[in-house]
Amino acid sequence: MPNDTQSFYVTTPIYYVNDRPHIGHAYTTLLADTLARFHRLRGDDVFFLTGTDEHADKVATAAKERGKSFIEWADINANAFKGAFEELGYTNDDFVRTTEDRHKTKVSAFIKKLMDSGDVYLGDYVGWYDTSQEEYVTENVARENDYNSPVTGKPLEKRTEQNYFFKLSKYEDQLLAHIDSNPGFIRPDARKNEVLGRIKTGLNDIPISRAVGPDDDDWGIYIPGDDTHRVYVWIDALFNYLTTIDTPNRRKHWPASVHLIAKDILWFHAVIWPCLLMALGEDLPGCVYSHSYWIREGRKMSKSLGNFIDLPTIRAYNDAYGNDAMRYYLLTQGPMGATDADFAHAKFIETYNADLANGIGNAASRVANMIAKYFDDACPDPGEHCPKWQESAAKHAAEYTRHINDCEIHRALASATELIREVDRYINETAPFKLAKDETKRTELAQILYNCAEAIRIAAVLYLPALPATMTDLLSRFSCEINKGDTFDSLATWGGLKPGDSIVKGDALFMRADADAPAPEPAQTAAADS
Ligand code: MSP
Repeated sequence: MPNDTQSFYVTTPIYYVNDRPHIGHAYTTLLADTLARFHRLRGDDVFFLTGTDEHADKVATAAKERGKSFIEWADINANAFKGAFEELGYTNDDFVRTTEDRHKTKVSAFIKKLMDSGDVYLGDYVGWYDTSQEEYVTENVARENDYNSPVTGKPLEKRTEQNYFFKLSKYEDQLLAHIDSNPGFIRPDARKNEVLGRIKTGLNDIPISRAVGPDDDDWGIYIPGDDTHRVYVWIDALFNYLTTIDTPNRRKHWPASVHLIAKDILWFHAVIWPCLLMALGEDLPGCVYSHSYWIREGRKMSKSLGNFIDLPTIRAYNDAYGNDAMRYYLLTQGPMGATDADFAHAKFIETYNADLANGIGNAASRVANMIAKYFDDACPDPGEHCPKWQESAAKHAAEYTRHINDCEIHRALASATELIREVDRYINETAPFKLAKDETKRTELAQILYNCAEAIRIAAVLYLPALPATMTDLLSRFSCEINKGDTFDSLATWGGLKPGDSIVKGDALFMRADADAPAPEPAQTAAADS
């Protein structure tokens, strides 16, 4: 590993196990996977965590509806998430379940520490509870929404409870100062502004426990020293980021570099979590990146509409176009900014054809074909390296790195795509297939084809974290095997291809897709266990 090895710790939300995984869960995990792959390639010491959030009321309700015990239902769905992420090729280093002892004992210890320091105290709470979101909403929000959930529209419940409270109000100034002096802490800016607007209306202390009911199964994490209260599921869940790495070997990874989440859970991550960490004397994460939502063909995805892009649908796309094609579509067209993104089949095909089949796929095969034909499958000798191309490749690699460091994966990938467009323009302008007819133009032809091949190789390195299977294949066809000790920077530097290196044509990396073909349908399987 290079000397400037840094820890890179990336997390996803831990997902509720009341139901099966769908595209939203896959998407955030894919973003994390891509960042993790990039940082591994950079030579960083990476830890990538995902998992499941199991102590929610809605998990217990879903289990009861199916006549299953809470843990039976949690096991089924936690395995479904684990299996889905394995199938999709995500490279998480661990998968935490909040029902595991390693998590529960540490949550108790952290809460105990907060009780001892006086940051957690016992008091009364009366409020509007949104059962569909597992959270209380403020009186204002409740009123504005006619006492219905602002997210799902389901009626709110008025609840009065004796509760343990966390002194959130105490950390307001410290949090504001942190946000102010760390401009990249909450991203993108639109989300930061939303959070700041809400903090400025004042932070109240928040309940962090729930009374244990007479019919409650033995699940959840009891408040230390009080078995009549359980830790509120959201507090229990947030701690996963710390409990999983709170071991002698893993502690070096704290603070997390990036918490990837969507807009629905921003407040918990950008306000409550940092304040809990401040109360514990822990460093704060580098960044909370909150993306927006996928919708489908213009409509919100919901249970009632039954229009979720679920795992079988993702699988159907992967089978039809390849896992990398689906990754590419999600990563480049997804809701990274502050607006939602539409999953539309026509857009999928358009993106696939433009950037993959007619983009890097076509450029690679055109150039490999010419090298096969005019130079017997061996990389031609450019003589001197071309400063213009060297500069251009370095510029695209630098832009790519800057964007990916800001978690703007879609922008990073656009830098790679732009490099390929430059190759296309260059081929059109210099017309190497015409020069090939003239023996006196051999040197020029060799230079042009070297520049094309080398630019394609570098674009493939930039695409590699997003398109691991196809780009590994392409790189090996271009004599670029990735060995231990290779880093992103060394691989993306001009001059990697050496004269005489073999260039293999191979089959099309991305077959052109028929724009009129219907969207792939999931295979009919036996009814899911639900
Ligand atoms: N269990 C909590 C999170 C606790 S984290 C300490 C939770 N779980 S969830 O199963 O509802 O997952 C929410 C997350 O799933 C979102 O923040 C987002 O990452 C992802 N998505 C769920 N639906 C989504 C879309 N339609 N589009 C994009 N991502 C979405 O909240």
